[in-house]
Amino acid sequence: MLRTQDDSTDLLKLAEGAFAGERDPWANAANAAALVFERLPDLNWAGFYFLRGGELVVGPFQGRVACARIPLGSGVCGTAAAQRATLLVPDVHAFPGHIACDAASNSEIVVPLLASDRLVGVLDLDSPRLNRFGADDARLLEALAERLVAACDWSLAAIDGF
Ligand code: SME
Repeated sequence: MLRTQDDSTDLLKLAEGAFAGERDPWANAANAAALVFERLPDLNWAGFYFLRGGELVVGPFQGRVACARIPLGSGVCGTAAAQRATLLVPDVHAFPGHIACDAASNSEIVVPLLASDRLVGVLDLDSPRLNRFGADDARLLEALAERLVAACDWSLAAIDGF
């Protein structure tokens, strides 16, 4: 649930400003995580996992300490990565195999990062509110993921396939 229509425009504009002139994936992902955590209400975790050595490895994030590695196909992140599809989970306790990093989390959204047809990683947001994320959030975060992927030179990071 976005608070106003302007939230999405603001977030994307701020992200484009933060990415301008910067091609490093870690730098841009760190600023993207900070922007999402600051601009979207009711989050307890926002950040990235990147595909390295055949599994998802935690990247820049805001929130509590998270599990470092997630195999493809495991948890919400690994499932979204394997399916290359956005996953909206209204109640994480009802998601088989959900990986609980923070006991406060009740709902989650995971958006895959795709560079052409290559999986780069995922953007993951957690909320203490049940059913926090809707279709508008999915559209906004997919647009942010697209901009992040386009802004970066992925050969600068140890991402599988680059
Ligand atoms: N809940 C995720 C794990 C990552 S944390 O939420 C930061 C999952 O099930 O994949």
